Amino acid sequence: MMQQILDHLAAGQSRSVEQLCDYVRIPSVSAQPAHKADVAACADWIAGLCRQIGLETGVHPTDGNPIVLARTPRRRGLRRPHFLVYGHYDVQPAEPFELWESPPFEPRIAGHSLFGRGASDNKGQHLAHLKAVEAWLQTGSELPCDLTFLIEGEEEVGSGNLAPFLSQKRRELHCDAVVISDTGMPSRDLPALTCSLRGVVALEVRLHGPSRDLHSGIFGGSLENPAMALCQLLASLRDKHGRITVPGFYDEVRPLSRQDRRELARLPFNERRYARFLGVPDLFGERGYTAWERRSARPTLEINGLTSGYQGEGSKTIVPAWASAKLTLRLVPDQRPERMARLMRQHLKRACPTGVRLEVEPGHGGAPYLLDPANPLADAALRALKQAFRRDPVLLREGGSIPIVNDFKRVLGVETLMLGLALPDDNPHSPNEKFDLRNFADGMRLGALLWPELAAVVRPA
Ligand code: BES
Ligand code: ZN
Repeated sequence: MMQQILDHLAAGQSRSVEQLCDYVRIPSVSAQPAHKADVAACADWIAGLCRQIGLETGVHPTDGNPIVLARTPRRRGLRRPHFLVYGHYDVQPAEPFELWESPPFEPRIAGHSLFGRGASDNKGQHLAHLKAVEAWLQTGSELPCDLTFLIEGEEEVGSGNLAPFLSQKRRELHCDAVVISDTGMPSRDLPALTCSLRGVVALEVRLHGPSRDLHSGIFGGSLENPAMALCQLLASLRDKHGRITVPGFYDEVRPLSRQDRRELARLPFNERRYARFLGVPDLFGERGYTAWERRSARPTLEINGLTSGYQGEGSKTIVPAWASAKLTLRLVPDQRPERMARLMRQHLKRACPTGVRLEVEPGHGGAPYLLDPANPLADAALRALKQAFRRDPVLLREGGSIPIVNDFKRVLGVETLMLGLALPDDNPHSPNEKFDLRNFADGMRLGALLWPELAAVVRPA
């Protein structure tokens, strides 16, 4: 039976790729109001595909973008294991457009790669699961469990409307575990189960100076310059060894155990090659930790955007009226987002000079996540990965965030298995995002092989 499903998937590969191209063509950028209609069209498109596959599908409006729910037909009176598959149809902005080798929403295939915004993060990854379930249904095979797909449209802007939706639909979404393919794997021949994600806290810091831009010759020297004050304020957040200097920042960080560090050190990683891949002359980060540890298992503070003064051509001699910075912290267990936001605010207030007015606007946030690798579901997922990719899988800690996994735990009371299909050079959130079509194919195989393994753990035969 399984072979028939896998053959069906292999035979349908080129059609699946065409469908992925159609999906990527819809510019569902959730951060930009100008794309509101595209986002709605994208929800309808993926809902249409779910219906075509034979899933009972609804498009649910929220205060933000619609959420698509699609479930396998239920057999009356039969209680079976139930798994929720989560994905997001929204994508990051594609700017700067000029750095794309082909337009971001005109999918292009070159070699094994399909280029386009959202191909990897996350359209290709959840489409693989949908196509796998289609193969189960079209070959007339009986799934060993019930499945519900939850595909949302606000992941890239913090999933603000999803937690209330989960609470509201708690009964219907009651399940044994959540499965997400929205992370990565270290290389084509190292499939991975991600057992931890970092949390995130976003904030915007604004310094207000004079009531208008001023002539810097006439007035400069008599008042604080907001851009300079902001630079000094931001510089006070970190020392030269890469350690965050906000008091209390590391208080709740659970130290890496020797076992953790050994696991991470087993992953193939060459720091010199990595620096070249990133295009930097040298790597940098918190002293005493490897680059892999720093990017996945240690907390960080990043400046995501910095704006002030004159940005046009040539020079303009002014003292700018204001300066602003967008910041995010990445958190590790057991740091709490609310506490970390408070510590940041307190530190900024204390360190801000008197000649400017400080404004701190809080943004989205989410706690870090850790799955106990001893959980039997983790073993089942590893078995499916091994069959799908024909390679031994590894356990991974990832630096990115999917804040909603904590809500799955809090509201539905279940763990999340993260089976990422992205490769390190997929360029998510960057120009020239791509998805590897071999991973798409293996991802579909994974989406087929997973359910018997997971179902057997929940309800042994
Ligand atoms: N797919 C990523 C998350 C991810 C990528 C986790 C790689 C681990 C490894 C997701 O779409 C994403 O980008 N999330 C945001 C969340 C934020 C907007 C709250 C992130 O991590 O920046
Ligand atoms: Zn993303």
